[in-house]
Amino acid sequence: MTKPSVFSTRPLFPAARAILEQHFEAEYWTAPERIPRTELLRRVADKDALVCLLTEKVDEELLAAAPKLRAVATVSVGYDNIDVAACTRHKVVATNTPGVLDETTADFAWTLLMAIARRLVEGDAWLRTGSWPGWELDQLLGGDIWGKTLGIIGLGRIGSRVARRAQGFQMRILYHSRHRAPLGLEAELHAEFAELDRLLHESDFVTLHVPLLPTTRHLISAEALGKMKPSTYLINTTRGPVVDEEALARALQRGTIAGAALDVYENEPRVHPDLLGLRNVILAPHIGSATIETRTKMAVLAATNVAAIFAGQRPPNALNGDALGL
Ligand code: GLV
Repeated sequence: MTKPSVFSTRPLFPAARAILEQHFEAEYWTAPERIPRTELLRRVADKDALVCLLTEKVDEELLAAAPKLRAVATVSVGYDNIDVAACTRHKVVATNTPGVLDETTADFAWTLLMAIARRLVEGDAWLRTGSWPGWELDQLLGGDIWGKTLGIIGLGRIGSRVARRAQGFQMRILYHSRHRAPLGLEAELHAEFAELDRLLHESDFVTLHVPLLPTTRHLISAEALGKMKPSTYLINTTRGPVVDEEALARALQRGTIAGAALDVYENEPRVHPDLLGLRNVILAPHIGSATIETRTKMAVLAATNVAAIFAGQRPPNALNGDALGL
């Protein structure tokens, strides 16, 4: 019996390839540059399954170009690159990779938080110019972390891990979420639910952990930024469009907030040009989950998802499983 076919827009990692190759005739895009859209449409035209990255849009156009497609797996937890409703219309099962990157991404939110508060990147850049005169009493003064108020927007899988880490810093934790967390979790995390306005007013650090949805686009608007204190730092490790980048650049230029540390951008790979010249912002290249362990787990999970679909099993992470009666 011939195996179904899969196209992967990256060669993935050996452990994930082994799963794909056990179940599929697998093809990979191996060039160092990202696959051009026209090439992607051409390569999926006769495939049964697609493994893609968050940088590839799976939309009506792609689905129409791939009439045999039954499964799409994005190697990411965020799936704003996938039009899930269109997948359902085309009877294509869509999957993502939740659960395996929570701790790693929470680590990175903390990496950014600590680095911006203590001006680490600025200091490193200064030393590399060769002009550091040596220790000074008032040099590169940042803000304390311990004992401060951490505002977590989105207390889901990643947000709750960020909260757990804050306990070591004896922080007061406020959170805002679409749904209030169970009381047991609030108690365990020492996290207090707050309306968004209150969280913005009172937090010394605001960290974002909501997915990109129509309701969260520009959640951090000029108005929201205006509610933060001049000593507050904003951390974004979720999706760029959750923040109005233009408004953020203005707030940082005017010093109405103390700083921001970003891993994600509104129009990746473009970064708003006004951010590039600012010292009170850290700009990371979307590496929140980028550890060898976690990226391998994500690729393996994506491969496991597509393999399950063709083995007649419910994939672990179907986004439209119910709609397709799985
Ligand atoms: C990364 O941004 C992801 O969604 O996994």
